[in-house]
Amino acid sequence: MSGRATVVVTRRLPAPVEDRLRALFDVQLNAADTPLDDAALAGAMRDADALLPTVTDRISAAVLGTPGRRVRIVSNFGVGFNNIDVGAARANGVVVTNTPDVLTDDTADLAITLMLMVARRTGEGERLVRAGAWTGWRPTQLLGSRVTGKTLGLIGYGRIGRAVAARARGGFRMKVVWHDPFAAGDDPDTLGGGRRGSIDEVLRESDVVSLHCPATPETRHLMNAQRLAEMRPGAFLVNTARGDVVDEAALVRALRDGTIAGAGLDVYEHEPAVSRELLGMDNVVLLPHLGSATEETRAAMGNRAVDNLVAFFDGAAPRDRVA
Ligand code: DGY
Repeated sequence: MSGRATVVVTRRLPAPVEDRLRALFDVQLNAADTPLDDAALAGAMRDADALLPTVTDRISAAVLGTPGRRVRIVSNFGVGFNNIDVGAARANGVVVTNTPDVLTDDTADLAITLMLMVARRTGEGERLVRAGAWTGWRPTQLLGSRVTGKTLGLIGYGRIGRAVAARARGGFRMKVVWHDPFAAGDDPDTLGGGRRGSIDEVLRESDVVSLHCPATPETRHLMNAQRLAEMRPGAFLVNTARGDVVDEAALVRALRDGTIAGAGLDVYEHEPAVSRELLGMDNVVLLPHLGSATEETRAAMGNRAVDNLVAFFDGAAPRDRVA
C-alpha cells in the first residue's frame, strides 16, 4: 500500500514493541490499557488498516462484519486465538495471525509451577506465614504429595505439552502419558509413558493431569463432571490452556467432594471472574493468567505480532497466518 498503514493496538505492550510499532506504522495505542468494547472495536475496524488485539478482546462476527470495515489483518498478540471468530474472518476476507513458539517455554514453566504449588501446598504455606500464624516447624504440618516419579497426564501434546513433558521427565523422573488426536509421533520415554488412545485412559492413569489443548467448540467443557470422576481420587488438575476447557462448576463440586485432590489454575471459564467457591478453597492454587508473563516472552510475542503485520503490508505471507 502507498503510505503508512494505520494500526490500532488494543492494550499496552512492552515499551520496545510500542516504539517499534510507532516507527513502522501510524499507530493508535491504548494508553488507558482497558479492554475496548464492541463499539470501539467496530470503530477501529472502520478507521484502521490493521488491528493488534489480544485475549481480552472479543473479535466477533459482528465486529468483523462492521459496515465500512477497512481492517484487512488482525494480528493477535497470543498463541491462542479463540477470542477471534476465525470463520467470520475467513468469510470477510480478513487475515488472522497469532504468536506461537515464543511462549512455549514460559508457559510450560508455569504449568510445572502450578503442579508443584498444588501438590506441595505452597499457597497454603505462604498464606500461613503471611498471616503471622506460623508457630514453627513440626513433622506433620502441611504434608503434600510427592511429584517426583509420579505419572503426569497431558491432554494435548503440541508445543507446550511437549515442553511440559520434557521438564517432567528430565526434572522429576515422571512417567508422562498423553492424548492428542492431532499430534504426530512420540518422544522416547523409558518409564513406560507415551501416547494413549483416549483421554479417559490418560485420566485413569495420572497423578497429575495438565491441559494443553486449544479452546475450540470441541474442547469446551472437555473436563466435565464425568471426566473429573475418571481422575484418581488423589490426583491434581492443572490448567494453563483456556478456562472453558474445564466446566468450572463441575470442578468446584469435584474439589468439594474429594473426587480429586486439588487444582492449579491459571485460566478461568469466565475470566477475569473466578468462581467464589474456588476463592474459598485451600486445595486450589489460583493465578491471574500468567502463563506467558515474562519480560522476554511478552516482548517476543509483541515482535512476532509486529513481524506478521510487516510481512502482510510488504505483500508477503505472514509467518503465523491461522485464517
Ligand atoms: C496466549 O498466548 O494464548 C496466552 O494465553 C495469552 O493470551
